[in-house]
Amino acid sequence: MIKKISFIGSGNVASVFAEKFSSVNIDVINIISRNQKTGKELAQKVNAKYYKSIRRIDDCDMIFICTNDDNIVKISEELPDILVAHTSGNTSISSIKRKKRKAVIYPIQSLSKNEKVSFNEIPFCIEASDLETKAKIHELISKISKNIHTINSSERKLIHMSAVIASNFSNFCYIMGYEILKEKNISFDLLKPLIKHTAEKNLNREPKKNLTGPAARRDFKTIKEHLALIDNKKYKRIYEIISKTIIDKYEK
Ligand SMILES: NC(=O)c1ccc[n+]([C@@H]2O[C@H](COP(=O)([O-])OP(=O)(O)OC[C@H]3O[C@@H](n4cnc5c(N)ncnc54)[C@H](OP(=O)(O)O)[C@@H]3O)[C@@H](O)[C@H]2O)c1
Repeated sequence: MIKKISFIGSGNVASVFAEKFSSVNIDVINIISRNQKTGKELAQKVNAKYYKSIRRIDDCDMIFICTNDDNIVKISEELPDILVAHTSGNTSISSIKRKKRKAVIYPIQSLSKNEKVSFNEIPFCIEASDLETKAKIHELISKISKNIHTINSSERKLIHMSAVIASNFSNFCYIMGYEILKEKNISFDLLKPLIKHTAEKNLNREPKKNLTGPAARRDFKTIKEHLALIDNKKYKRIYEIISKTIIDKYEK
């Protein structure tokens, strides 16, 4: 059973996970972070010891690597022979350089420091090198979520990529809409009921059934007039590409 955990990194995931596990009586032993300020702050919050160097890590049952994706390989090579898990959607389990006692715990949610999130609803994709490790991490994650899925590295990459399209890209579309209205002193609040309703509809029905708008209706005159209204060349191009893709995909 995993009772004592440590974290490498003190960014968004390390902070949210350390605080959540601490709240369900899992001891957070060390926060190892090159960033002294955020490392010490997090260690204090969860009553853990802060170290700058991985070499000083204390006795624990498991280490979470919560750095950016590109550093997982290098950091895993420096760790002692304790169960190690990373939290990256796009990084294969083989990036943890050892044969056994390794795992991936990928939450399909956007996590930010100091922002509350309902853990029980977060789908957790887990993968492990061996059955014993899998049982241990399943037991650990079941303390914070009931939504656990066994997913291999190639499936997880696809999930992560789809999540980027569905979540990060739609977020960028909100940014474009916000900026275009702000330039004319029109409040983005006017779009909020529409944004909320669209998200809710997509939770209940297949997304393609919810598509409305000029491209789906093939209102070419409206599309042309909209394009003429957009000053930012890149945003204009995005409007054009998405409209054309919708028109081609739903050719009548
Ligand atoms: N945030 C999310 O929504 C989310 C969701 C699912 C999965 N993930 C995955 O979780 C992992 C962490 O993401 P995050 O959002 O928490 O990132 P983050 O907020 O940017 O934090 C990254 C942490 O890693 C540290 N770090 C970076 N390079 C390092 C190195 N070479 N040596 C030591 N420490 C290093 C950073 O230190 P500095 O402060 O010094 O830069 C920081 O503490 C990533 O693999 C990501 O793909 C994130």
